[in-house]
Amino acid sequence: MTTGFFNRKDILNVKSLQREEIEEIFNTARSFQEVVRRPVKKVPALRGKTVVNLFFEPSTRTRISFELAAKFLSADVINFSSSNSSILKGESLLDTLRNIQSLNADIFVVRDSSCGTADILSRNTSSSVINAGDGIHAHPTQALLDMFTVLEKKGSLENLNVLIVGDILHSRVARSDMEGFKKFACKVSICGPVNLLPFYIKDLGVDIFHNLDDALEDQDVIIMLRLQSERQEKGFIPSVREYVQFYSLTEERFLRKKKGALIMHPGPVNWDIEIASSLKREIHPLILEQVNNGLCVRMALLYLLSGRHEPFN
Ligand code: CP
Repeated sequence: MTTGFFNRKDILNVKSLQREEIEEIFNTARSFQEVVRRPVKKVPALRGKTVVNLFFEPSTRTRISFELAAKFLSADVINFSSSNSSILKGESLLDTLRNIQSLNADIFVVRDSSCGTADILSRNTSSSVINAGDGIHAHPTQALLDMFTVLEKKGSLENLNVLIVGDILHSRVARSDMEGFKKFACKVSICGPVNLLPFYIKDLGVDIFHNLDDALEDQDVIIMLRLQSERQEKGFIPSVREYVQFYSLTEERFLRKKKGALIMHPGPVNWDIEIASSLKREIHPLILEQVNNGLCVRMALLYLLSGRHEPFN
């Protein structure tokens, strides 16, 4: 079912993925859409393989969809959380990994609040590592599911105008989305307060806006980001009220967007900060579709990393 082009050990970021690999991930994810619609959502593709979810930072969507994805593929799944492990007794992350690896784990899915954790683990294990979000650095599986959602809705990713709005500085999703959409010749723009843009933003080759009213026009895809208060010290923005005034998707702005423009959000949404809660009926269905697509994309990644290229059902 696959072309066999995909032949890598890890998924650590979007930047290093070739366009053909991304296309193979999407084609595989499309096959899995049919599986998740079945009454019995189970294929034997990863039977005998062990997937370990290492989540050192809170997660709802990513953690649950990786667990479900692995279970739908018939893998054995271990969910590891630092709060009830020997990490509390001082065991290091690398020693933890080596102990789990000696139990013959095949794929590690890693979420951590520090940048580079997945890279470090990948260099210290012969097992596959998937970065499920590392600090403010990268969130490749979120970017892939965002791109897959746009592909499903628009039929093509080529040459779209993509706007990313909000807390770019703290957003691993923004970084990974920029890298991914640019691989398909999209024109990527960002919009956010000066204090919430990284200092190297001018090197990223994106258009920069500081007011959502100026940025809305002609955008095919608008990705609203969460204001990440847990990663912010005081003083990044003068007030939430001012943030809403310039960057929130209000009803008025929603009416002025390009016809057919997709409004997306990686979640969790702070309603009435990033998006007016009065727009929930119009906007929430696509955000939930992103979550559903995440399941198929993550099934595809687990399947492709397992190296099993034969038909899965
Ligand atoms: N989008 C995302 O990564 O959500 P979680 O933090 O809930 O996994």
